[in-house]
Amino acid sequence: MARKKVTIVGAGMTGGAMAQRLIERDICDVVLQDDPQFAGTMHFGKALDESQAAAWSGFSASISATDGWDETAGSDVVIVTAGAPRKPGMSREELLNSNAAIVRAKVADAAKASPDAVLVIFSNPMDAMCHVALEASGFPRERVIGQGGALDSARYRHFVADACGVSPQDVHGYVIGGHTDTTMVPVVSQTRVGGVPLTQLLPADKVDEVVARTMRGGAEIAELMRVGSAFYAPSAGTIAMVTAILLDQRRLMPCSTLHEGEYGIEGVFSGTVVQLGEGGIQRTFELELSDEERERVVAAAEATKGLVAQLD
Ligand code: 2OP
Repeated sequence: MARKKVTIVGAGMTGGAMAQRLIERDICDVVLQDDPQFAGTMHFGKALDESQAAAWSGFSASISATDGWDETAGSDVVIVTAGAPRKPGMSREELLNSNAAIVRAKVADAAKASPDAVLVIFSNPMDAMCHVALEASGFPRERVIGQGGALDSARYRHFVADACGVSPQDVHGYVIGGHTDTTMVPVVSQTRVGGVPLTQLLPADKVDEVVARTMRGGAEIAELMRVGSAFYAPSAGTIAMVTAILLDQRRLMPCSTLHEGEYGIEGVFSGTVVQLGEGGIQRTFELELSDEERERVVAAAEATKGLVAQLD
């Protein structure tokens, strides 16, 4: 049986970290696609370097690089990281049209080579880039998925765990809405730690601190790194999604999906909990929200709609 194949478009810090996490799971071959004018031969270097880790890291799948698309043909999943990351002090939204041009071109080529693939969109501003990818690929909504909620929820679970002194694995909480500093919605009303509501474990001012730090999570790391933005947590979230799809795990993860009536939102990408497995999104879940959370989720979709209207 042929191995599954995943293409990672863009072999920068994030694409490289994703490639390493994925190949070391030994569940698929990995192809790193990039352009010589942006990457030089870096993607070939990363693929060869990681190939040489196989003996000690214990995998048999292959990792390779390409400037073109032939080697990507028939991919089961294509992850799109292409485009610029934000710089310190910059919002994700400021990357809108520069990254849209790159994502549009890359997705059109990727979809031609892999017409049955599931697209996982990482490039920012992520929800708007999902719209670009949906249009450029012509794929159905099940096969165009944005990664923002997986990352934002990982940050939220980390800060909650830190404040409560428990493992992040035992924090059940989701961040939905938009993947921007102002429109993401950590769903405090439904967050449980060992089955106990978060609001019973932490005083309100502590919960507010956790929420604020989550919402600025990406900005804080961009400021600390000075060059580029986060890539460890982003790659962990994305590869958890890809693993769920490849192995048909039917995991429930918060991701950006084209809403068709969820929370009363129509035709806009936004985050909610989705079931991920073979074929991409198998089902969407609408969380029970407080009135304030619901208003913020609707406002997030309005903000994304506004960004999409500004696309060239
Ligand atoms: C972040 O939040 C890059 O959007 C990504 O770090």
